[in-house]
Amino acid sequence: MGLRVTHSNATDQAARLRRQVGAQRRGRALHIAITSGKGGVGKTNIAVNLAACLAASGRRVTLVDLDTGLANADVLLDVTPRHTLADVLSGQRAIGEIAVTTPCGIRFIGGASGDVALANMNRIERRRLADAVRSLGGAAEIVIYDCGAGISDNVLVFAQQADVVTVVSTPESTSLTDAYAMTKVLLRSGFHGPIQLLLNRVQGRDEARDIFRRVAAVAQRFLDFSLADGGYVLQDKHVELAVRGRRPMVLCYPRSPSSLCLTAFAARFMRAPAPPRAASSGPLLMRFVELFV
Ligand SMILES: Nc1ncnc2c1ncn2[C@@H]1O[C@H](COP(=O)(O)OP(=O)(O)OP(=O)(O)O)[C@@H](O)[C@H]1O
Ligand SMILES: [Mg+2]
Repeated sequence: MGLRVTHSNATDQAARLRRQVGAQRRGRALHIAITSGKGGVGKTNIAVNLAACLAASGRRVTLVDLDTGLANADVLLDVTPRHTLADVLSGQRAIGEIAVTTPCGIRFIGGASGDVALANMNRIERRRLADAVRSLGGAAEIVIYDCGAGISDNVLVFAQQADVVTVVSTPESTSLTDAYAMTKVLLRSGFHGPIQLLLNRVQGRDEARDIFRRVAAVAQRFLDFSLADGGYVLQDKHVELAVRGRRPMVLCYPRSPSSLCLTAFAARFMRAPAPPRAASSGPLLMRFVELFV
């Protein structure tokens, strides 16, 4: 942790996040990367529910499964896309052609699980796929990346081109150490956008605040960087129930503790009013969202 990364100290990360969200008003899609240092910390669950919340509030959302090793967001959404990013990589399909619309109104681009070519892309192939993903903005207001874990190039290439990166961590010290490492690598690779830390599987708000303050202090001291507070998601048995039911938790258990946390998280990306549109899902969820906006 002793190495310093020079980065604008005066930058207010929260203000930068607000500016990025404000860009939606000017007709540019907001690209949000959900990533982590350690695996299995809840990224896919957060990405899927963030997408479901935003879609329920009338936003045009595209979710891209960018876990190039073991993609599984399709399982949580109960969809089976005929084509995946593996077909885009092989040149058989353009990225816009492989999108499917889920029952909850998310435009979904599926990844492939266990596809050797996708898992072992070379530099040129990675760049080509990343450019294709960046081009998705035209059909969406918000593009969410469900990235893989770790600091491999297959993760970094996508995270680097996002407007906002959310690094997910559980309260475990190993997970926090890896979240810090991910932040450091992102900054070193030249990422200039806001990075926020979202703490998942916490027992309560006080625990989340305490952990965030400690990690943010380390990032400030050793990286000269103001990490943004991405909030928290409570440890909650409804997460597993929703996974089993293959529906986003914010839709099937909207009043569960973790759904309320995810709804609050989604509200951070909704500063601009949604265009009027027939709601495709729960009005209850819409009311919760409005409480935070
Ligand atoms: N807030 C939570 N409360 C309880 N269980 C949770 C919570 N968040 C995630 N989980 C559980 O943690 C496990 C991992 O979740 P998920 O697949 O979303 O993680 P991931 O970071 O995407 O993993 P990977 O790195 O393999 O892509 C799942 O079994 C999920 O049900
Ligand atoms: Mg995942």
